[in-house]
Amino acid sequence: MTRKLTLNAFLMTTGHHESSWRLPESDPHAGTEVEHYIRLAQLAEKAKLDAIFFADAPVIQGSVAQRPAGILDPITLLSAIAPVTKNIGLIATASTSYNDPYNLARRFATLDLISHGRAGWNVVTTAGDAAAQNFSQLGQLDSSQRYLRAHEFLSVVQKLWNSWDPDAIIADKDSGTWADPSRVHPADHVGEHFQIAGALNVPRSHQGHPVIIQAGASAAGKEFAAQWAEAIFTAHQSFESARDFYQEIKNRATAYGRTEQSVKVLPGIVPILGSSESEAIELADTLDELILPEYAKKTLAQQLHVDPEVLELDEVLPEGLESAASKEKSTSRRDLILKLGYGRNLTVRQIIRELGSGRGHQTFTGTPEQLADRIEYWFKAGAADGFNIMAPVLPSGLETFTEHVVPLLQQRNLFRTEYDQRTLRGHYGLEEPTDHQVGVVR
Ligand SMILES: Cc1cc2nc3c(=O)[nH]c(=O)nc-3n(C[C@H](O)[C@H](O)[C@H](O)COP(=O)(O)O)c2cc1C
Repeated sequence: MTRKLTLNAFLMTTGHHESSWRLPESDPHAGTEVEHYIRLAQLAEKAKLDAIFFADAPVIQGSVAQRPAGILDPITLLSAIAPVTKNIGLIATASTSYNDPYNLARRFATLDLISHGRAGWNVVTTAGDAAAQNFSQLGQLDSSQRYLRAHEFLSVVQKLWNSWDPDAIIADKDSGTWADPSRVHPADHVGEHFQIAGALNVPRSHQGHPVIIQAGASAAGKEFAAQWAEAIFTAHQSFESARDFYQEIKNRATAYGRTEQSVKVLPGIVPILGSSESEAIELADTLDELILPEYAKKTLAQQLHVDPEVLELDEVLPEGLESAASKEKSTSRRDLILKLGYGRNLTVRQIIRELGSGRGHQTFTGTPEQLADRIEYWFKAGAADGFNIMAPVLPSGLETFTEHVVPLLQQRNLFRTEYDQRTLRGHYGLEEPTDHQVGVVR
């Protein structure tokens, strides 16, 4: 079988560009309307994409004054989308720092049953004190401690998802036997962070259990991903950095005895498309002109861990920002921005424009053919197994991608023309988890 692209629609309110809500075509209330997301999911499914994906943090991100803030809980939202879709995978983000394993394992197992095996979990450890302060804590644990908790969290969740053997339910009306108790295993977990006695109260799903996705970029994050993740979301500005990351993840995964195919590496890409290059540039300019520079400067300063006063809109980044790192925040996104700013000698205003649509993910401005070429090149040259498609404006950006780029990828035999599997695990070409994983901490 020829290797095929994996394509997810990464969805975000009115689009990934921070000004998307201000376009005449956009509904500024769409972010809290289930009908908006159902329409997007059905659009993605019509184009045979692998999955839709929602990011999440249990905190208001950015400033409510300047852009739509407040996002719906993704697991609840996907539970509403599941019955009105049939094939598309449903990936929700949830934090290992601000949940308990039993509750979260149960909620994902429920989504997996509701959707007949289409659920995926983007495992995050959640950076920032603001989120911690919503959970009775003064500040967050440092990154290495959050990842230690995440490792144990994952091992417990796996035990819980595996507590029901595939043949545990007998449902024999004649003998009155509903399930075989010897095939339902208690988690029986005693660890540093969690002590969990029982079995999960939700049986096994159609795909065994939800697909595990991760997006760590620090050394601890990559190590975590190599051990647990079946797909990795990532942000890269250049082909070289994506290719190095791709190879590193595959190497780290094989060091754990896994195959290279058992973990998909999926960078994000923001497609700004037009029927000609100049039309695409016009759309990019329209969006960029709507950015509020002072607000964007504040966000940039946060990402760089510096005071906004340090940055001047029409000057290049001051030297020495590498040492301004706060240990409490993610440094990988900061490093990416510094590389962009220092590497290309961009002014703060230019960096803001570069980041406006994708917050560090690559932005592609051009025609559908040019984008198909880029996708094909990265896929064939070992930088990606597929992509998270991050439409700058929704729904129009997803419409353009599905109507104009997907057919090109299909013509090139790089992407499916029909679904041949029913589960997310099936779409991703992943193996079903087997019994022998019961209680095993990988
Ligand atoms: C495509 C993508 C999506 C992400 N979504 C989330 C998210 O929804 N919530 C979150 O807290 N972090 C999210 N992250 C951040 C990562 O989980 C991770 O914290 C970040 O890449 C830094 O890596 P590190 O934690 O190993 O330092 C995302 C990252 C990427 C690349």
